[in-house]
Amino acid sequence: MSATIASEYLNTIALGYVDNVDSEYAKRLAKKWHFNYLGDVAAANKQPQLEFILQVHHHALELCKLDEPKLGAIKVDFVAGAVAHRRKFGGGRGQDIAKAVGLKHGFTPHVLDATAGLGRDAFVLAGLGCQLTLMERMPVVAALLEDGIERAKLNHEVADIANNMQLIHGSSIEQMDLASAPDVVYLDPMFPHREKSAAVKKEMRIFQCLVGEDLDADGLLEPALALAKYRVVVKRPSYAPPLAGKKPSMSIKMKKNRFDVYVNQAIPKLTT
Ligand SMILES: C[S@@+](CC[C@H](N)C(=O)[O-])C[C@H]1O[C@@H](n2cnc3c(N)ncnc32)[C@H](O)[C@@H]1O
Repeated sequence: MSATIASEYLNTIALGYVDNVDSEYAKRLAKKWHFNYLGDVAAANKQPQLEFILQVHHHALELCKLDEPKLGAIKVDFVAGAVAHRRKFGGGRGQDIAKAVGLKHGFTPHVLDATAGLGRDAFVLAGLGCQLTLMERMPVVAALLEDGIERAKLNHEVADIANNMQLIHGSSIEQMDLASAPDVVYLDPMFPHREKSAAVKKEMRIFQCLVGEDLDADGLLEPALALAKYRVVVKRPSYAPPLAGKKPSMSIKMKKNRFDVYVNQAIPKLTT
């Protein structure tokens, strides 16, 4: 992101609190992530340039799109909701993402999720025992994700999983090698959605407005292939061409998406 775009984007966002009890945490987050500090979020209506607010509500960081209040707030929640449900009932090592990463061989890799987003895929893999390094370049997304990971560390059911997730804020195209020796690099860049916007789930809507498309996504494949010891896994919508036009070694197809797998070397078969 260029400096001009970054400053324009930062003018449209401010961070505040819903209840005064969260004011210190809100102040700390605003300072850490370089967001304008709003104080009480009620002050947002006096700042017409704002499109989004980040608010601390009940000790959790949430994102709201001001002109679409019906979409509600999004936060990273590894303890309750869809992600937690998937951890309990999602099919363990038999699920497609686990097969794509190579877990079926009884192998539990160190995975670099180089397009971390809200961390759902990373949490699934960490929940299956992988060590996860996550990279996210958008400060808003990274702030939401870090807040979610830190809250998860305080919950006895998921603390062990969250302790296996290390977030690096930065662009993985430039800084991928900050992750030391990953076995697998996982990529899930944003891709234009085909569904009509009303049909796209609320989280996806807010996300698309904020992050847009990852137009430079093709540039992720080469550094990923250079870094991954065993393989690179790319999640793509089923209608999308392969990343950087490069044919994968194999694909795992699902209803709406597929995992393109690029093999650098075979995963060792472990004898247990
Ligand atoms: C579709 S989302 C990933 C969703 C994620 N797999 C999940 O389960 O929540 C893509 C994310 O990758 C981030 N991203 C794209 N290119 C990146 C790069 N070069 N470095 C770091 N983050 C990147 C975007 O900012 C966005 O948050």
